Amino acid sequence: MKAAVIREYGTPIEIADVPKPALLADSVLIEVHAASVNPVDGFVQAGYLREMMPITFPFTMGFDVSGVVVEAGDQVSNFKKGDEVYSRPNGMQAGTIAEYAVIKAEEIAIKSANISHQEAASIPLVGLTAWQALVTKGNIQKGQKVLIHAGSGGVGTLAIQMAKYLGAQVATTTSATNIELVKSLGADLVIDYKTQKFEEALSDYDLVIDMMGGETLERSFKVLKKGGRLVSIKGEDSNGLAEQYGVHFESFFMWPSGEMLSQLAKLISQGAIKPVIDRTFSMDQVQDAYAYLQTGRAKGKVVIQVV
Ligand SMILES: NC(=O)c1ccc[n+]([C@@H]2O[C@H](COP(=O)([O-])OP(=O)(O)OC[C@H]3O[C@@H](n4cnc5c(N)ncnc54)[C@H](OP(=O)(O)O)[C@@H]3O)[C@@H](O)[C@H]2O)c1
Repeated sequence: MKAAVIREYGTPIEIADVPKPALLADSVLIEVHAASVNPVDGFVQAGYLREMMPITFPFTMGFDVSGVVVEAGDQVSNFKKGDEVYSRPNGMQAGTIAEYAVIKAEEIAIKSANISHQEAASIPLVGLTAWQALVTKGNIQKGQKVLIHAGSGGVGTLAIQMAKYLGAQVATTTSATNIELVKSLGADLVIDYKTQKFEEALSDYDLVIDMMGGETLERSFKVLKKGGRLVSIKGEDSNGLAEQYGVHFESFFMWPSGEMLSQLAKLISQGAIKPVIDRTFSMDQVQDAYAYLQTGRAKGKVVIQVV
């Protein structure tokens, strides 16, 4: 089958002919219709995560998929041939920018019928991240004030919509060209980070979701009220500052969950969350897709159409 692979850490992605993955008893063979790209893919490719996510080569890129079940393993009772599904697979060998992927049933959910495969493929990794940051880690409550950084990015576009759905008051940072976009997603207050200091405009916040790290993370402590929460997905530690400001700090790496993807599919089918796609590329243009993502200017998600 055709797949977007790397042969070694740090080598360019190439489209290669590789063996179709073998079906396992606890898994499902999926005909991939669409995948999407994420900043973490570049860290995996460069070898920065080799201890946390050991991989073998050739390694198929991609951690998001939407497609159709071709065959279910012997132990799988909740999915069958023909089901339209989406997933953020955990298995480090379950690359999704390929014609087929084998993924554990527990990491898969039925995709919402009101969106396309391309739209569904834009959701899993960032959708799970946003939900886990806001709900599982952030314990967001109705009426609370939340600051979501980078509201125009893959994670941010979904986090804004989820926070609004959960009844929060949402402030977000982005630059001038994306102000209308984040407002259309429900942001109540938009800070242009290029011309305005968010910590001067905001105070007494219950929760901040940080994806920038560095000085943005440090300044974010200033907007929290005592006992507030800062949840970071940038992989930086900040417990010292948390103590100084009297707030809670947590940094985490998202985890796969078919069950949580089922809940998100419900929100999508109700229209509470809408996928935001910036650009779609074909599998043959995968290098262009990553180059565009790495500009850091994506508005929503960058999708790979496979079929
Ligand atoms: N821990 C985890 O499990 C986890 C999971 C997912 C993502 N992440 C991390 O979270 C980060 C965001 O991921 P993503 O997929 O959302 O990235 P993305 O889609 O590439 O983010 C691009 C967006 O960021 C905005 N942006 C850039 N610099 C900004 C700044 N200083 N302030 C506010 N907005 C800014 C850009 O808006 P402008 O063009 O207007 O600047 C652009 O719309 C990445 O570092 C990623 O590795 C971590």
